[in-house]
Amino acid sequence: MAAVLLIGTAAVIAGGNILWTCDPAIAKQLFTLHTVQVPVDLIRFHDIWGPTVGSVEGQEWKNHRKIINYGFGPSTLPIVWEESIHQTETLIDRWARDEFVVKSPRTWMSRIALHVIAGIFFDTRMDWKDTESSNTNNDSYTSSLPNAILTIMLHLGVLFVTPRWLLGKLPFEPFQKTNKAFVDFTNYMLELRAKVLEKSDEVSTKRSRTMLESIVVAGSTNLSDPTVQPLSKESILGNIFFMMMAGHETAGNTLGFALLLLAVHPDSQNQVQQEVDDVLGERPKSDWSVETDYRALQKGYLGAVLTETLRLYHPVQFVWRTNVAETTVYDSTGDSHVVPANTLFCVNFAAAFSNPSTWPQAKISSAKRADLHFSRALDFNPTKWVHTREVTDNPTHWPFGQGGRTCPGKAMAQIEMVAVLATLLKNYSIELVITEDVLKACGDDHRIARERTRDDAIRRLEDDVEANLTIAMLKDLPIRLRGRFDETSP
Ligand code: HEM
Ligand SMILES: *[C@@H]1O[C@H](CO)[C@@H](O)[C@H](O)[C@H]1NC(C)=O
Ligand SMILES: *[C@@H]1O[C@H](CO)[C@@H](O)[C@H](O)[C@H]1NC(C)=O
Ligand SMILES: *[C@@H]1O[C@H](CO)[C@@H](O)[C@H](O)[C@H]1NC(C)=O
Ligand SMILES: *[C@@H]1O[C@H](CO)[C@@H](O)[C@H](O)[C@H]1NC(C)=O
Repeated sequence: MAAVLLIGTAAVIAGGNILWTCDPAIAKQLFTLHTVQVPVDLIRFHDIWGPTVGSVEGQEWKNHRKIINYGFGPSTLPIVWEESIHQTETLIDRWARDEFVVKSPRTWMSRIALHVIAGIFFDTRMDWKDTESSNTNNDSYTSSLPNAILTIMLHLGVLFVTPRWLLGKLPFEPFQKTNKAFVDFTNYMLELRAKVLEKSDEVSTKRSRTMLESIVVAGSTNLSDPTVQPLSKESILGNIFFMMMAGHETAGNTLGFALLLLAVHPDSQNQVQQEVDDVLGERPKSDWSVETDYRALQKGYLGAVLTETLRLYHPVQFVWRTNVAETTVYDSTGDSHVVPANTLFCVNFAAAFSNPSTWPQAKISSAKRADLHFSRALDFNPTKWVHTREVTDNPTHWPFGQGGRTCPGKAMAQIEMVAVLATLLKNYSIELVITEDVLKACGDDHRIARERTRDDAIRRLEDDVEANLTIAMLKDLPIRLRGRFDETSP
């Protein structure tokens, strides 16, 4: 993915100016000015089937956007909540097989985000079996829909850098595998689409629809809304796929970082657990609701933890824009800059939210800070959001974007992330794993070993963070779940 984007970038740079910025004031203007657009030529490599909401502009974009918005209707949100809770419970069972040691939190959290997407988009419940284990009973397919989804998402890089006609011809396993999954996925989508169209009258009156049903109905038939134009078959498939990409690593990486930050900051974790106990009490999971429980947790400390995680470790590193006419932008100090037409803007999205001049740092001596590699994990402080976060137009922090292209998946992502963490922290605490080696080196002193492990984790939360299109932990940093009410727990 990175390679293609870089090649694409190089081609654009060759013909014009490029402006890199991480100034939140400039970024905000770029997201809201009419003369500034998405550089569609650069983004086109996303278009595996046809144009999508992310790769078109103007009226065409408005039309795509209206159609996908049908998929995020109010009936979807309770399903996001329930599926996220179910997936977390079954994931905990899966982790029990590894004695509750989670080697790579990020990998599992990306996977849970994908499972939730499969539930919401296709009404397909994915389980935690390994990729190869579940098979299809239809000879037309080599793998089940869940397996095809998983394989494609694990090989997105291959899919983007290889021309489609070549993919099936290269005799190497990753290409063959990806190609088979791609062909399967396309056929599943077409089959599902045909089924929806066959009974579109019935589907359009259903109270609760899958994302696929909503998009197919809105995109294929003439709706009562005369401003919505039908989309090509390729664009329907493309939009579904684009949303799977947009919702997968974003929510997954954020959850992965949140778990690690809570392991490093047990005091914050305690506050979340207290709030979860207060809000959910002893009620069974079937009573937890998106209307009251989710809202309380999102408005409270748990929502603040997620907002703070997104401030320090926003998964989106770059967002691209270009201007169709000469544009004047004003930086944070109030100075104006005239930018010639057709400049390519590269907004360093993640960096725009961590400017130390906007965000006071934790009071830690500079020697300690240096010893801990100036890690941003040190500045994790959710409290700052508890009363201010609901201001919708916070000028300094808008993790889901600004202007017309604001993330349409915001509510889905927030509900999913709150549901996963609440379910997990209700019965379990998360802690770092102290290895035998560290324990021995600390003369079997558990307190010293715990401190050393924490310091090391803080360093790695800076050093091992991959800033490469999406921001994630480059290497595994294991955590362990400990039962909160389990007396026999070691
Ligand atoms: C923590 C999770 C997420 C974060 C931080 C996030 C962030 C963002 C941001 C900043 C943008 C704007 C990009 C721009 O201005 O060019 C965006 C766009 C988008 N997001 Fe999200 N997102 C998340 C989850 C999701 C989910 C779960 C979905 C769908 C299932 C989704 C679907 C989209 C789509 C389709 C767009 C493109 C909108 C357009 O171009 O009109 N996102 N997201
Ligand atoms: C198998 O897949 C083909 C091709 O998509 C489809 O037409 C057929 O109905 C499927 N058969 C069964 C038994 O599901
Ligand atoms: C929608 O309506 C237009 C004109 O009213 C017609 O040309 C077009 O075929 C219709 N499309 C579909 C998918 O029904
Ligand atoms: C927590 O544990 C209790 C007792 O074993 C169980 O009834 C409940 O379902 C668990 N809750 C979650 C969220 O897993
Ligand atoms: C981005 O990822 C690629 C492939 O994983 C790697 O080769 C490259 O060095 C990374 N770039 C940066 C800036 O980390």
